[in-house]
Amino acid sequence: KLASKSSGQKADFVVVANRLPVDRVINSDGSVDWRTSPGGLVTALEPVMRAQNGAWVGWHGAPDEKLEPFNNNGLELVPVELSTHEIAEYYEGFSNATLWPLYHDVVAHPKFHREWWVEYKKVNQRFAERTAEVADTNAVVWVQDYQLSLVPQMLRDLRPDLRIGFFLHIPFPPPELYRQLPWRNSILRGMLGADIVGFQLPGGANNFCELVRRQLKLPVQRHEVTMPDDRRVLARAYPISIDAQGFAELAASAPVQERAAQIRRDLGNPSTLVLGIDRLDYTKGLRQRLRAFGELVSEGALSPSDSVFLQVANPSRERVEEYRRLRDDIDMLVGRLNGNVGTIGHPPITYLHTSYPREEMAAMYVAADVMMVTPLRDGMNLVAKEFVASRTDNTGALVLSEFAGAARELKQAYLVNPYDIDGMKEGLMTAIQDSPAAKTKRMKAMRKHVFEHDINHWADEVLRDLGADL
Ligand code: F6P
Repeated sequence: KLASKSSGQKADFVVVANRLPVDRVINSDGSVDWRTSPGGLVTALEPVMRAQNGAWVGWHGAPDEKLEPFNNNGLELVPVELSTHEIAEYYEGFSNATLWPLYHDVVAHPKFHREWWVEYKKVNQRFAERTAEVADTNAVVWVQDYQLSLVPQMLRDLRPDLRIGFFLHIPFPPPELYRQLPWRNSILRGMLGADIVGFQLPGGANNFCELVRRQLKLPVQRHEVTMPDDRRVLARAYPISIDAQGFAELAASAPVQERAAQIRRDLGNPSTLVLGIDRLDYTKGLRQRLRAFGELVSEGALSPSDSVFLQVANPSRERVEEYRRLRDDIDMLVGRLNGNVGTIGHPPITYLHTSYPREEMAAMYVAADVMMVTPLRDGMNLVAKEFVASRTDNTGALVLSEFAGAARELKQAYLVNPYDIDGMKEGLMTAIQDSPAAKTKRMKAMRKHVFEHDINHWADEVLRDLGADL
């Protein structure tokens, strides 16, 4: 039997997520490295875990390996193993080709396969069992995201003494879409195993409550569901955030400021540097964003010798068909636009398909004049908040999609509808041409919000509602 924590002790606070905060990578010489995992979930939860000193249960990113709990950089990590087959069917299949597109407004077609569902249940059960072994009596357990929607009820069956929270990092869809899911009631019941079910936005919480009422015929009053055994489940929004102070300090540091100046020099000191940083995902609106920028250059509104669009796309879910197709599309689109509108030494788009450490991301945020965050649908989008936190001198402009959760809070951004290419072109031009005073006013207001609603604020609210006395 595997130990609970690396110390062999049980934990009174446990985070359960599909991924650990680090991925195990094996180099060509056979040596092993641990690299920060992709995505907003890890960005947000890492500082919370450091403050709480608990254990993190999750997959370590490699197939067919059973690892003992270990301590990495001060965090207690408890690996859950996944076989190659489970990765294909639970992670790439049910999580990322069924639930992911369904929950993101079906911007790609969700696939419904019964074999994937079988593996999803099996892997959720494994996460629940591993967590039950790690958690101390009366511990607080916080289950994360759509990959693990069944874990709350499975865990409750194993360990009724625990306080269980569930948080969904992505949107929760309207009933008309959700109801397509053949396993809709099982997933709702799985989530209702928690004491609190958290969403990014009130809209997601409302959708959930309506479905619980309609599908499960359970009474819901003021966001509280009454279960058949009289247990109460609170379903509400807790908009997630970042370590704003930490990010601001990093951005203001001398090495990051110097690196930012270097990035601008390397790009030929353009008068306008537009930045995009996203996981390479079809929900992020990359095709539309590139088209909008390309048209502005080809129409002459922006000059290729003077305007650069730096787009970073972090590799993601590369074995899922839609993601492969997207990568090919973006490669082609960037090549075509640069070929059509570039001049010698001035390709207007610099496209980098890779991931960078926090320091390099911070330098890019500092270097940019305008940041474009234009997803077709996004739970929150923490890149938008990181950009705002990084602008310690109150300069810079954020062009933000109305369909990112962050738009509900960052109201002073230049808000755009990413489906409306002309509207996006207009939004980008306004963001570029607005007066410095107007931009500063907007940036100040957004910074105030992000600093007042940082990750500690988020964690405090959830943990308070969970009754966690940590
Ligand atoms: O924030 C949403 C999310 O799906 C996380 O659950 C996930 O860890 C992250 O994006 C990155 O995706 P993946 O773990 O599939 O690489």
